Amino acid sequence: MANDTKMWGGRFTESTAASVEAFSASIQYDSRLYRQDIAGSKAHAKMLAHQGLITDDELEQIVAGLSEIEVEIEAGTFVFRPELEDIHMNIEKTLSEKIGDAGARLHTARSRNDQVNLDTRLYMRDVTAEIIDLLTGVQRSFVGLARKYLGAVMPGYTHLQRAQPVLISHHMLAYFEMFGRDKERLADGLKRINLCPLGAAAMAGTGLPIDREFVARELGFPASTANSMDTVGDRDFIVEFCATCAMIQVHLSRLSEELILWSTEEFKFVELSDGFCTGSSIMPQKKNPDVPELIRGKAGRVVGNLMAVLTLLKGLPMTYNRDLQEDKEPLFDTIDTVSQSLGIMAELLANMEFYTERLATATSGGGYMTATDLADYLVLKNVPFRKAHSIVGQTVAYCLEKAKDLTELSLQELQQFSKVIEDDVFAILSVEGSVNSRVSLGGTGIVRVTEALERAEKMLEAKG
Ligand code: ARG
Repeated sequence: MANDTKMWGGRFTESTAASVEAFSASIQYDSRLYRQDIAGSKAHAKMLAHQGLITDDELEQIVAGLSEIEVEIEAGTFVFRPELEDIHMNIEKTLSEKIGDAGARLHTARSRNDQVNLDTRLYMRDVTAEIIDLLTGVQRSFVGLARKYLGAVMPGYTHLQRAQPVLISHHMLAYFEMFGRDKERLADGLKRINLCPLGAAAMAGTGLPIDREFVARELGFPASTANSMDTVGDRDFIVEFCATCAMIQVHLSRLSEELILWSTEEFKFVELSDGFCTGSSIMPQKKNPDVPELIRGKAGRVVGNLMAVLTLLKGLPMTYNRDLQEDKEPLFDTIDTVSQSLGIMAELLANMEFYTERLATATSGGGYMTATDLADYLVLKNVPFRKAHSIVGQTVAYCLEKAKDLTELSLQELQQFSKVIEDDVFAILSVEGSVNSRVSLGGTGIVRVTEALERAEKMLEAKG
């Protein structure tokens, strides 16, 4: 007697162990692919009818039945059965129960191996566009900040030591670039996601007269995958996507680190709005930057998910192996975590304020941040750079000893270190002089930053 509870039960005489049923089911998480599964099945059925493998009447019944199922799932009335393992068999079995024989013809020339690959690609195609939009949202917040604070200065750091004065807008637009690269990476990955795998069947293709290009067109794919064996075992596009998302979350984490530092009493460069902070249950005075902390913390799981998928693939022989079912949880967790983090970060940034006066004081007072400008000044007076570097080093040492800033030295004091120094030196020792002298391509001079800002604004406008 066959195991009738299973769609593949024909060759089995005993029923599946309960422990195995629970162990192998993926419906708890792959049910989120229902819309893609239904769209894929409709396209497949259309092709079967077009090729004369099912009748037009059967096609109609299949399409209507699938639409009904979609409505039920969306209404929350559909009963997912773990004994049917996954989303594919839950939908197919219910369809057969609804429409009988026509439903039993749907799986003609198809395997769950190409089906699950299709569903995942369709899902990721949409998600890729959504995450690109979320990245644009973060960029929009940065551009907003860059516009709002155009002209205001802040200390620029290397080694987390004050290095050179920069414009706040320059710092904001640095993040604009960073997240822009993430968008490019996602768009590039989409080329490899956006191929139709259906028709690879179990792994070797099929002898039935199918038309793969028909299905591809029907689902809006520009082309089909090439090799049936590669197709059903391929999850490279998931690895790439998870890698890009890991990069995004790492970028968010670096940004979070800055926001956490900047909102401390020690820095006090920014004020995060109350809506994005939480208090302490014991210390009434506290306002904690939990949101950036959580985003920073979540980088751990997103990077971990990438490792999980890579490790999953390592050692798998061609072609499909059930191991591959394990790709979904890390993928979905990555999508959820990155999407949530990007959305909330965009909002947090849009509601953040810089303490411009404190930043101006931090930039001019202490740190000798215009020391490089003095060296460059000497270079323009024909002093070789290495010599200039040493002269300025000695000048800074003198300042440290006298507890003075570079701007507080008299011309005479400066001339002790180099005779070529003249009255015009004071203009370049000021913060403003320093910032605005940096007009090299990509530099922090206001002319360059204004150009960059306008370019960024145009890019965002074009995207709507
Ligand atoms: N739930 C399965 C997965 O996610 C679908 C494919 C199952 N294929 C099979 N031959 N058992 O991978």
